[in-house]
Amino acid sequence: MRGSSLVPLAGTFAVLAAAMTLAAGPAAAQSGKLKVGFMLPFTGTYAALGSAIENGFRLHLDEVGGKLGGREVEFVKLDDESDPAKATDNINRLIKRDNVDVVVGTVHSGVAAAMARVAKQTGTLLIVPNAGAGVVTGALCAPNIFRSSFSNWQTGYATGEAMAKRGPKRAVTITWKYAAGDEMVGGFKEAFTKSGGQVLKDLNLPFPNVEFQALLTEIASLRPDAVFAFFAGGGAVKFVKDYAAAGLKSIPLYGTGFLTDGTLDAQGDAAQGVLTALHYADALDTPRDNAFRLAYAKAYKLQPDVYAVQGYDAAQMLAIGLKATGGDAKKVADFGAALRKARIDSPRGAFTLSSAHNPVQDLYLREVVGRINKPVGIASKALADPATGCQM
Ligand code: PHB
Repeated sequence: MRGSSLVPLAGTFAVLAAAMTLAAGPAAAQSGKLKVGFMLPFTGTYAALGSAIENGFRLHLDEVGGKLGGREVEFVKLDDESDPAKATDNINRLIKRDNVDVVVGTVHSGVAAAMARVAKQTGTLLIVPNAGAGVVTGALCAPNIFRSSFSNWQTGYATGEAMAKRGPKRAVTITWKYAAGDEMVGGFKEAFTKSGGQVLKDLNLPFPNVEFQALLTEIASLRPDAVFAFFAGGGAVKFVKDYAAAGLKSIPLYGTGFLTDGTLDAQGDAAQGVLTALHYADALDTPRDNAFRLAYAKAYKLQPDVYAVQGYDAAQMLAIGLKATGGDAKKVADFGAALRKARIDSPRGAFTLSSAHNPVQDLYLREVVGRINKPVGIASKALADPATGCQM
């Protein structure tokens, strides 16, 4: 009978295949799809940021033929709602129920800190494509945790240096009260006060509230030389418009670049002249960035922003690491060794990773002119996060 003769034959193939896998040893390419979990905000004030990160990631994946480490990629998407209270359950679902090989996420620092805790415990590869929480590449740093973006401290520090150089002496800070705002304000104050600047008052409101009126009135009565702000996404759009509408444009507005990135069409004239520091700018006019911007605009009918770049670079980092492991996401040591010696060819300009796995990078000073964040200089060159508390 045909059926019965097939059974032993299939068995022989199975044994042979197993023997070949064993013989090929640790360098053997992994087969089957690579499962990537996208844990990002797809609703709420950071929804556009999550979507830009996904777009950027997919753009690079398309450029390399849809495979990472030789494996086709399958995505599992999870909306984290920028809610730290749900973060531990959410990442555990991706790891334990969906069996993802890698997690890419997220935007919000509070959510990212919870993700890093779980990634550190489970050893699952985690690439953070935005959230700047210090602990991710500080106290919670781990061989399997990497960031393609920035630390909050880096962006705040660079803005403080830039403001001090341009002359203001007395500043007020304003932000959402959570890790990102606290750490950016911390970095800002460190640099600004080191150069003789004085901070009159730190103003804040809970994330993601946008009732700015009382705080803007307080700024008007404090009459500082300049204001430093961190807001992002929908909240940044409203803050910059409310600041102008409150008649405060005579007090120069500075911020980390998130204040005006991906938001300029919605902010319009209110954003003109706002000065920010960030590891990306529009119109860098390098061949690398021009090619990226053209490809992104073609694929999505949208202009890219810093979040798109960070998503794109998360995919580049995964591609580099998984190439070194033959597609095996469990070979964390080889994955990390490849990334620590890599020069990542980012649209922002090439960067390397610190030993804590955070980008060491230039931060541009940018000024809003028309509908772009125009680079007007380098705020900090090759700035590395201090990685406080990281022991690897
Ligand atoms: C953060 O929570 O770390 C965060 C969120 C949005 C940004 C930047 C940082 O644009």
